[in-house]
Amino acid sequence: MTKYIVQGGKPLFGEVEISGAKNAAVAIIPAALLVDGVCRIENIPQISDVTLCLKILEDLGAGIRSINRHTVEIDCSHIRSTRTNYDLARKIRASYYLIGSLLGRFGEASVAMPGGCNFGGVRPIDQHVKGFTALGAKVSVEGGFINAAVEGGRLKGTNIYLDVVSVGATMNIMMAAVMAEGNTVIENAAKEPHIVDLANFLNSMGANIRGAGTDTIKIRGVEKLTGGSYAIIPDQIEAGTYMAAVAATGGQVLVKNIIPKHMDCITAKLQECGVEVEEQDDTLLVRRTGKMQRTNVKTLPYPGFPTDMQPQITTVLALAEGTSLVTEGVWGSRYRYVDELKRMGANIQVDDKTAVVEGVEYLTGAPVQAYDLRAGAAMVIAALAARGQSEISGVQYIERGYEDIVEKLRAIGADIRAVEEPDDSETLQARIG
Ligand code: EPU
Repeated sequence: MTKYIVQGGKPLFGEVEISGAKNAAVAIIPAALLVDGVCRIENIPQISDVTLCLKILEDLGAGIRSINRHTVEIDCSHIRSTRTNYDLARKIRASYYLIGSLLGRFGEASVAMPGGCNFGGVRPIDQHVKGFTALGAKVSVEGGFINAAVEGGRLKGTNIYLDVVSVGATMNIMMAAVMAEGNTVIENAAKEPHIVDLANFLNSMGANIRGAGTDTIKIRGVEKLTGGSYAIIPDQIEAGTYMAAVAATGGQVLVKNIIPKHMDCITAKLQECGVEVEEQDDTLLVRRTGKMQRTNVKTLPYPGFPTDMQPQITTVLALAEGTSLVTEGVWGSRYRYVDELKRMGANIQVDDKTAVVEGVEYLTGAPVQAYDLRAGAAMVIAALAARGQSEISGVQYIERGYEDIVEKLRAIGADIRAVEEPDDSETLQARIG
């Protein structure tokens, strides 16, 4: 079991390089199944969710060749099976993309019910199923697997109106429709940067998708996708997390390899708090010297403030002067981490979807738990800003989505280290033994 030990209270200074976007990578890798040829994918983040995605593809018969740490070649010309390994697929939320890609290419898919971060509440996939059904597939759940199949092996293009704006459903339906017969229109589609990234990837392999990044996506089905090369966009949320860390600790950091437009929603909120952000080409210079002021935040689908930055901004606001309101507008609830922040002295009350955050002068280090990926990022930020030592457990969640987080933070002056400890049951066993 790995833990992070953090000595807080040190401002951050220097430069940090942002990796490829996790939520683009975990869609684009399964989308390689649609391609009858070799896809070379660059700027892949080195995180455990990506490793799992690649393992799932390999198990289905894909040839995977690592070119370097961030580039991989995937060859899906000789796929053996359309049924995914149960234990691998259920570990990760993004395994639902295997349904769209396998169904789109082979007319059938059998994928374990997806797992992934559980931040409270349900994570339904009814809109994905609605899309596959509209395209002509029969979808059922049996023995923990979602089975989807279309008679005759090819889906048929149609119009699909999503009842909720869903990132996953938009991308999954896009994958299924790319080789369907005729045209598909997805209305009320999500507009996140990774949706545009997936469309660009598929188009570069021979697909015909227009309108990604707007709420209407039009797909003209093609017969076949062939190989090519593609580089994944930088991770908006990873960049936002480092920006929030600088806001919380103070200091000055150049955040490199980002697309500033994708950062606008986060930059605007930090500026409202009194953080200085200067944009230059593909970098943002983030500086916080004075005290931070309160603000209100509501998470919304893109281009609104991202839900995946909600725990991090709440942590920043816990240290700002005055009372801030944070409202979760995407998920039913995502505040499990608040109790952990309270252990460090934060003053936050949660009522359903709203957190009332009374800023405090300082936080103090404590043993805390990362309950999910972004909650874990919030724990790291809080620990970096807090006086004294914190011990963060559950860091395997953090490592699902943040490449080299310890090394990147150390390079900008943070006192953080990863330590291996026997887990509690082993400790107990040792004591009894
Ligand atoms: N929803 C439905 N039915 C569906 C799908 C979604 O009602 O069939 C609802 C959800 O319950 C939620 C809302 O629609 O209230 C939005 O969910 P969405 O489908 O957009 O989420 P997702 O695709 O499952 C992705 C990211 C999440 C991120 C959300 C929102 C991946 C693998 N996951 O999830 O990322 O929070 O979009 O932006 O791309 C993370 O990276 O930490 C993370 C959890």
